[in-house]
Amino acid sequence: MQHLDTLAALTSHIASVKSSGRTVGLVPTMGNLHAGHLSLVAAAKAQCDFVLATIFVNPMQFGPNEDFTRYPRTLAADMTLLKQAGCSAVFTPAVDELYPQGLDSQTRISVPYLSTLYCGRSRPGHFDGVCTIVCKLFNMTMADTAFFGLKDFQQFFLIRRMVADLQLPIGLVGLPTVREASGLAMSSRNGYLSSEQREQASVINVTLQYIAGLIHSGDRDYPRLEQQALQHLLAAGLKPDYFHVVDAATLMPASKSNCDLVLLVAANVGNTRLIDNLQL
Ligand code: PAJ
Repeated sequence: MQHLDTLAALTSHIASVKSSGRTVGLVPTMGNLHAGHLSLVAAAKAQCDFVLATIFVNPMQFGPNEDFTRYPRTLAADMTLLKQAGCSAVFTPAVDELYPQGLDSQTRISVPYLSTLYCGRSRPGHFDGVCTIVCKLFNMTMADTAFFGLKDFQQFFLIRRMVADLQLPIGLVGLPTVREASGLAMSSRNGYLSSEQREQASVINVTLQYIAGLIHSGDRDYPRLEQQALQHLLAAGLKPDYFHVVDAATLMPASKSNCDLVLLVAANVGNTRLIDNLQL
């Protein structure tokens, strides 16, 4: 597995891959890899000739009071996992190389309105940071296809919209959420949790399943179901941020006539913010 840590190294390596006619599959990550990330690498391997993972803790997508500085950076372990997974190369750029003008002077990509909902409401600017870095990575890597987790449902939705709106020449694949045995969605932020908090956090998935069951059995009073879900999370000692029943095709609040639904949730366990979702 090649380790490319500068843009120059990436550019020349990709040029040789492309000139040999091989397809490039991109798996963008912020590192501290787990089985969820590795499922993306496996899918990319199945579909592309050359699999490029990127590890970059993107400062632009963190708010001023968020965990950018303490976000887990575990490069050596990540490299071992990527190598075992059969990844072809990993790109680990430095912040200064990707943002040479500094964050404030950097051109940003913003999907209007939808990026201000749900997670965007509690994390202003977060999705502009995500779309900006993802677009830069698409351009730098010239990937044919990029692989994302549906665990970050809103993120994937906005990236799809950005690709469509900007006619970016790349295919996108969204893959199912990989979970712990308890149902807790795997996340690099789970590492912040104590064992007691991990157990508490599994209530997020239990709540999703419970509300999904009620919808399946015909309940269409979404505002009441959302309140019920919030109560459920509160009762388990979590601090819910939101729980919404959303039309999966538009990301807008679901109406009774929508049949393609997704439940979106964010909640704090102690100081750790976790998100999850369930498509019905
Ligand atoms: P990160 O949180 O490291 O996640 C990288 C990719 O792994 C994302 O596509 C995410 O949806 C996926 N992923 C995370 N947990 C998963 C799980 N349990 N099952 C399946 N896939 C999972 O998301 C980001 O980084 C960043 O915002 C990024 C897109 C890299 C831009 O900086």
